[in-house]
Amino acid sequence: FLRRTLGSDGVRITMESALTARDRVGVQDFVLLENHTSEAAFIENLRKRFKENLIYTYIGSVLVSVNPYKDLEIYTKNHMERYRGINFYEVSPHIYAVSDNSYRSMRTERRDQCILISGESGAGKTEASKKILQYYAVTCPASDQVETVKDRLLQSNPVLEAFGNAKTLRNDNSSRFGKYMDIQFDFKGAPVGGHILNYLLEKSRVVHQNHGERNFHIFYQLIEGGEEDLLRRLGLERNPQQYQYLVKGNCPKVSSINDRSDWKVVRKALSVIGFSEDEVEELLNIIASVLHLGNIQYGGEDSGNAYITTDTQIKYLARLLGVDGLVLKEALTHKKIIAKGEELKSPLNLEQASSARDALSKAVYGRTFTWLVNKINVSLAYKNASVIGLLDIYGFEVFQHNSFEQFCINYCNEKLQQLFIELTLKSEQDEYEAEGITWEPVQYFNNKIICDLVEEKFKGIISILDEECLRPGDASDITFLEKLENTVGGHAHLTTHKLTDGKTRKVMGREEFRLLHYAGEVNYNVNGFLDKNNDLLFRNLKEVMCMSDNKILTQCFDRAELKDSRRPETAATQFKTSLAKLMEILMSKEPSYVRCIKPNDAKQAGRFDEVLIRHQVKYLGLMENLRVRRAGFAYRRHYETFLQRYKSLCPETWPSWQGKLADGVSTLVKHLGYKPEEYKLGRSKIFIRFPKTLFATEDALETRKHSLGERESHVSHAVVVQAWWKGILACRRARRRREAANTIRRFIKGFIYRHNERCPENEYFLDYVRYSFLMKLRRNLPKTVLDKSWPTPPTALIEASERLRKLYMQNMVWGYCKRINPEWKHQLEQKMVASEIFKNKKDNYPQSVPKLFVGTRLNGEEINPKVLQSLGSEKMKYAVPVTKYDRKGYKARPRQLLLTSNSAVIVEEAKLKQRIDYAALKGISVSSLSDGVFVLHVPTEDKKQKGDVVLQSDHIIETLTKVAICADKVNSININQGSITFTMGQGREGIIDFTSGSELLVAKAKNGHLSVVSRNNGGI
Ligand SMILES: Nc1ncnc2c1ncn2[C@@H]1O[C@H](COP(=O)(O)OP(=O)(O)OP(=O)(O)O)[C@@H](O)[C@H]1O
Ligand SMILES: [Mg+2]
Repeated sequence: FLRRTLGSDGVRITMESALTARDRVGVQDFVLLENHTSEAAFIENLRKRFKENLIYTYIGSVLVSVNPYKDLEIYTKNHMERYRGINFYEVSPHIYAVSDNSYRSMRTERRDQCILISGESGAGKTEASKKILQYYAVTCPASDQVETVKDRLLQSNPVLEAFGNAKTLRNDNSSRFGKYMDIQFDFKGAPVGGHILNYLLEKSRVVHQNHGERNFHIFYQLIEGGEEDLLRRLGLERNPQQYQYLVKGNCPKVSSINDRSDWKVVRKALSVIGFSEDEVEELLNIIASVLHLGNIQYGGEDSGNAYITTDTQIKYLARLLGVDGLVLKEALTHKKIIAKGEELKSPLNLEQASSARDALSKAVYGRTFTWLVNKINVSLAYKNASVIGLLDIYGFEVFQHNSFEQFCINYCNEKLQQLFIELTLKSEQDEYEAEGITWEPVQYFNNKIICDLVEEKFKGIISILDEECLRPGDASDITFLEKLENTVGGHAHLTTHKLTDGKTRKVMGREEFRLLHYAGEVNYNVNGFLDKNNDLLFRNLKEVMCMSDNKILTQCFDRAELKDSRRPETAATQFKTSLAKLMEILMSKEPSYVRCIKPNDAKQAGRFDEVLIRHQVKYLGLMENLRVRRAGFAYRRHYETFLQRYKSLCPETWPSWQGKLADGVSTLVKHLGYKPEEYKLGRSKIFIRFPKTLFATEDALETRKHSLGERESHVSHAVVVQAWWKGILACRRARRRREAANTIRRFIKGFIYRHNERCPENEYFLDYVRYSFLMKLRRNLPKTVLDKSWPTPPTALIEASERLRKLYMQNMVWGYCKRINPEWKHQLEQKMVASEIFKNKKDNYPQSVPKLFVGTRLNGEEINPKVLQSLGSEKMKYAVPVTKYDRKGYKARPRQLLLTSNSAVIVEEAKLKQRIDYAALKGISVSSLSDGVFVLHVPTEDKKQKGDVVLQSDHIIETLTKVAICADKVNSININQGSITFTMGQGREGIIDFTSGSELLVAKAKNGHLSVVSRNNGGI
């Protein structure tokens, strides 16, 4: 039953979860504070939670975070998983909940998001923004390409921190620039790119640091961590004390910082982001040259003109910056003026010379920093993405002495406050409208009047300052202050020492003006305003830098700048313009807020300094936040959820309400005794004005639950179990669907890429094709040696398939041979001989193939014993009944053909009619047709013989195969087309003509030939 509803302003609280938590440690949401206007109650709630390490608390959808100054075990991967995809209020408040909520809104509502992190120095803004980035890096979907982007996004932090952060009194790792970073996500929700905007780097730190503070980290990292020969190349010594720019704060070492290991981290990060070795070298050349610049010392001539006393620096500078040493030297001691079209050089005095040198250092460093940000942007560039923006920008600053920087920073905070008011009020108003509830104007202070005071054209403070900067003559910080008094002196939010009453005058300096910011009063000392706003670099120094060989500097100092005769925009105007752009960016997105608070000034864990915190609560405008959030109604819930939870409190709505939801809710709250001013019914939601109404209802529910008895609890348990189980089933189904969709997607992709080389896109498909071919083959292997079928292989497997086929066939043949018995072997050998002789040559051969050859066609009893006797010891190999055709008249006579080991014998009853020794057998003729006639040729000169013998056998193939084998005459069988000529004895010849017809017929023809007509499909 813990559920959230999404309102137009993002996430709405669910009273239930907040209520369940209310008894634990304070309230998780300040909206639940009974006395919401009491600052003391607010701070007490913060304190209670802080003591229990609960550093996060909500004000509606705003997250308040108190810096714990110790590592809490709440940022593990498990924690990230716990907050992933979960409803905002189901778990305790966390930076991950805000991250996840923004991510999910971006994905589901397709609206770009931004997370605005504010708070004073050391409150934990940068840490918070890193936690958000890590959350996305770990929990968002990814691919290989995304990994590099993720790495670059994450690695941009150490680089920017090295160049833009420094140890200050308030924070050992204080960001000295404002940062807005877009994280870009593709349609799958994977982080694919990013873009960074930087604001107002504190350049003055390059040349000067307050006591106890340091310059930017990179200088110390280079000196402590840089390799020996790198330092040698850069002309640096491994001792920060040697450098004027690093000793102003007298604080080269900080216990919480390890410059040497940070150096390694930064070097690695630079290469991850895509810096080449050359680029790193040039970047370090610049960093080193700033240190050398700082060590340039001047001496004063009697005339007062400055000259350089330290020539070694010039030598290094010339090499590192890639400029002419003499020109640089000249530019550091002279000023070039163009008067009436003529160039004049005037020498600088000591003070002017050292401020020119410092101006150069600041310009070089400042511009290099901007170049660095651009370079990172190039490496993160991506188009057409959904965006979550992270704003990590300086919070309100109020020091003992406030200068131009604090003026800019506090102006920035006024703008952000205005955006906050507009967006929060607007979304509240939108929801009221959508629900048809009359909007009750919220009393709040609109700080637009202060923004206007600062930024308005012509009359605003920035315009007045610019005017003084540009004005020829004796303009100074004091004339600026006077001008302020004259122009905006009457403004309700500005006063000066001169204009104010006696009481305030006591706490203001003569050179100060006071602004009444939305968060409180701040006195600004005008000293240095003009210089800082002008941010001037003498023209001849600019010219030198434009001639540099260093590739980074050529990008930073553009020659076009020299030709431009207009004055460059002042620092304040540039800042105003970039803020206006930032507001535009933020306006187009749905905001979430993280407000960071620093618990004490000592950077100590567990110390809750109430005075300090009260101050921040005030300057962060948290009470105002809460007031706006609570101005109308504390809670709003969808009817359905409300009824579902509280229906048991009213007999009419229990156990279920059949009518319209709105009527049900109305019945319920009337039964509960809600007074008309306590709630309103909208189109789909009930709006409840005070938390106490809800607390009462919730308490009633607790009591009711106990009295509902056992049965109810069983029922509700059953319902819970059922819901659980249903949930599990649904998850499984969803998972299977997802997997199926993925498989199909991979398959289609693989099909498209199937002709490419094997690559991640097609490997699944190709493997599948191989696998399925092999499986198909397994099912369809040929069953016999004669079966020549074989599945068609895919292209990739042609060779393998052929090898497999051969192997398989060999194997099958081998198995077959092994199974053959001697008898069958003999049979096959004869069949082989038959095939050799007759295959494709004699028409009735094919019919003979399936018929087995027999040992003999006449057994012992069928042959006359006398014949057997006269054959004596000769072994009988084969006997078959045949028809003999007489040489004269071709009369058909039944005979027996016997094959012995030596000869073929023709027998008539008991008589041995003719005996042909195999040695004498000249040849055997037979026709190509399907008849059974054959001729045994004998030599004519052999007187014993009566000539060739014409015989006919019904088993012609078998008979002749046997003859061929017994007589070893395989090669002496002639298969003839048409006719056979044979000798009849006494030198006469006979001719047999072969034709085919419908009937078998053997007879003497009119021409005296023997005519043999064989049937088309004749017998054997
Ligand atoms: N969630 C946290 N858990 C543990 N320590 C933290 C956390 N947030 C901040 N800190 C500690 O506080 C220090 C200061 O935090 P951080 O640098 O984020 O401040 P900041 O608001 O960015 O300040 P600045 O405006 O000076 O840049 C960190 O270096 C760290 O030691
Ligand atoms: Mg910071």
